[in-house]
Amino acid sequence: MNPFIDDTDEGWMLTRTEIVVALNEALAWELRAITLYAHYSAYVSGIHRSHLATYFNNEVTESITHAATVRAAIVKLDGEAITERDPTAIPHTSDYLEMLKEAYKTEKNASETYGRILPMIQEIEDSELYDALEVIYFDELRSVEELRMMLK
Ligand SMILES: [Fe+2]
Ligand SMILES: [Fe+2]
Repeated sequence: MNPFIDDTDEGWMLTRTEIVVALNEALAWELRAITLYAHYSAYVSGIHRSHLATYFNNEVTESITHAATVRAAIVKLDGEAITERDPTAIPHTSDYLEMLKEAYKTEKNASETYGRILPMIQEIEDSELYDALEVIYFDELRSVEELRMMLK
């Protein structure tokens, strides 16, 4: 065992790299959500257009806020934030039910991603970062539940 190597610090470095990778996945997903909701807000048609266009627009704003928080977290960890959205295709439709189903899948994936990130943040004992990301995690969980109710 090399006494000059601080194992604890190395472990922390590894975790930090893993966290940045995971945060970039979350950021890519937020960037996709911004495009998805902006697109659906423009195309949603039928009797539900009025309130769903507003709902989707609010999700655009929320995703922009989430992306900013995640980006700030990556900066804090000295990582490099990605600028490309997640490549998962956004199905084009003007059918609101199809849109809600796609939104549900998107929010579910987002909530799972943040659910995976939180225990990693716990490991580096940064309570400020944990708090900021937990807020997003709860936002995503609320969206999942809201969409589940809309799809009922
Ligand atoms: Fe989000
Ligand atoms: Fe969301």
